[in-house]
Amino acid sequence: MSETKDLRAGFDEALREGLERIAAASDLEALEEARIRVLGRKAALSRARAGLRDAPAEEKPELGKLANEVHSALELAIAQRRERFQADETERRWARDRIDVSLPGDYHALGSIHPLTRLTWELVDIFVGLGFRLAEGPEVELTSYNFDALNTPPTHPSRSPQDTYYIAGRDDVVLRTHTSPVQIRTMEAHDPPVYVVAPGRCYRRDEQDATHLNSFVQIEGLAVDENITMGDLKGVLLAFARAVFGRDLDIRLRPSFFPFTEPSAEMDVMCFNCKAKGCRICKQEGWIELLGCGMVDPYLLERVGYDPERYTGFAFGCGVERIASVSQGVGPIRAFWENDLRFLAQFGGLT
Ligand code: PHE
Repeated sequence: MSETKDLRAGFDEALREGLERIAAASDLEALEEARIRVLGRKAALSRARAGLRDAPAEEKPELGKLANEVHSALELAIAQRRERFQADETERRWARDRIDVSLPGDYHALGSIHPLTRLTWELVDIFVGLGFRLAEGPEVELTSYNFDALNTPPTHPSRSPQDTYYIAGRDDVVLRTHTSPVQIRTMEAHDPPVYVVAPGRCYRRDEQDATHLNSFVQIEGLAVDENITMGDLKGVLLAFARAVFGRDLDIRLRPSFFPFTEPSAEMDVMCFNCKAKGCRICKQEGWIELLGCGMVDPYLLERVGYDPERYTGFAFGCGVERIASVSQGVGPIRAFWENDLRFLAQFGGLT
């Protein structure tokens, strides 16, 4: 009987001591240590259980039940303590990593397409819609393409280093002064018919002021086919001018001169603002000068091996900055190259 009492006392002691240890654990790690000491093989409970073997048979069920109850009570205490620690840890993490979703986000300015680039694409698109294909040529160009093949005489002033950037130490390589050499490169590479539009950067040595830049963008156009006439040139340019400035506008061609076209002309578009009456935008002219053009000189065709008896062509070259400043009402063209974000932002896209 006293053995049974001892056993009971052993279980009570195991429970008391176990609960104490569990309560004393101050974090998850210590709790795990306590669990091993309280429920492990060497724990007071296990030792007390071992004594069950020698208990009288009729007491065994009750004592066994008591052992199980102590075990469950300890397990429960551990589980509750663990939950407490985990809840504390979650609390701490919440406090540490709290994100205030109502705060404004980091501000990153978005870039956008430069207005000149965008306008160039839009202008090229108009010609693509008329059946022209995109062509390109190098900005660093041979004088033979930039001048000779374009019928520019050896003494022509545009060849002088005052007007043209030559690559250091060379007298046959320049920064192209116009996109017209792409005419030659295209005709050399393709048999007629050709219909191409060639946008690109050009360079001229120039006094820099509000209206003159030493770098600018041109769009070149070239059509060579059988039976091409000046009427075709005018029709294409009219469609172009109307697409850019308005459906109700007219154009006019004035005689001019370029070494590579014959006849040559300057094209004006009727002022979209005053319809040729004269206003501030057209400087009282009623018309706005837009581009140079003409019929391809047979000299060029012959040089690239086209039959000038069979083929004729027209070409034009227009300055993109000029169209930008006229259509956007921007006076000083150089504003497009200064890249002041406050200026560029007015063309949309930039925030
Ligand atoms: N290349 C000429 C210029 O830069 C423009 C032009 C192109 C004229 C094609 C006629 C034909 O001024």
